[in-house]
Amino acid sequence: MGTNVPAITVTGLTMAYGSFVLQRDLDFTINRGDIFVIMGGSGCGKSTLLRHMIGLKQPAAGSVRYGDADFWNLADEDRAAIIRRAGVLYQSGALWSSMTLAENVALPLQHYTDLAPAVIDEMVSFKLSLVGLAGFEAFYPSELSGGMRKRAALARAIALDPDFLFFDEPSAGLDPISARNLDQLILELRESLGATVVIVTHELASIYAIATNSVFLDSEARTMLATGDPKTLLRECTNPTVLNFLTRGTGQREVRTV
Ligand SMILES: Nc1ncnc2c1ncn2[C@@H]1O[C@H](COP(=O)(O)OP(=O)(O)OP(=O)(O)O)[C@@H](O)[C@H]1O
Ligand SMILES: [Mg+2]
Repeated sequence: MGTNVPAITVTGLTMAYGSFVLQRDLDFTINRGDIFVIMGGSGCGKSTLLRHMIGLKQPAAGSVRYGDADFWNLADEDRAAIIRRAGVLYQSGALWSSMTLAENVALPLQHYTDLAPAVIDEMVSFKLSLVGLAGFEAFYPSELSGGMRKRAALARAIALDPDFLFFDEPSAGLDPISARNLDQLILELRESLGATVVIVTHELASIYAIATNSVFLDSEARTMLATGDPKTLLRECTNPTVLNFLTRGTGQREVRTV
């Protein structure tokens, strides 16, 4: 479960591409152990917000803190040390198609550690087994289903035992059963790694099943409209845009998981 220990604190964040301001005045806290969901309509800036947290895009104003560290004002090597503690599953989710699953998952280990090849092989097999892909080391991405590819990308994201996991629409393109299995896997990985998880998703079933905390971004208002446990927001939120999203337009406040 989420704790009361702040892991990532976003304060007064403005996100912009050139003079185009996407979002301003973002204020929220992600606690250690949270499964934190970034919600909002297409194009409101969810992926861009992730990019601000993983070192790919600098704030136009405001700050992102990891614990006490002001992420964007750190020396480059200190910021890189934090980034190394994060595993990322990008929206495009790409594995290298010319490499086997084992080679894909081994990449971060080869890049960031001095481990011997035999040790890396063992760790790769262990990570693949954690995501239910034991025995698929020699397979190429094109030989797998979409759900298996997602799980392989997840194995790569957890290769370095990250403290933070960032997922951009992990269940996009999966059938509902595979999507629920992926939710279960995310819960298990949070437990086994003790990680804090940040997920962009539109999937209400996932949101109610696994999220402990959230932020809702709105492209019209160009700012956040709510933050908190989505189940609490569903019961108590009075903002019509947020309620509309959380009830898929029905306005019915009971939790639906299917
Ligand atoms: N590199 C970029 N340069 C300029 N504008 C960009 C860039 N990346 C994204 N944008 C713009 O910023 C806005 C938000 O993009 P972003 O990808 O963060 O949205 P999103 O909420 O993740 O959308 P979706 O739900 O479709 O994935 C969009 O209008 C997009 O065109
Ligand atoms: Mg996106």
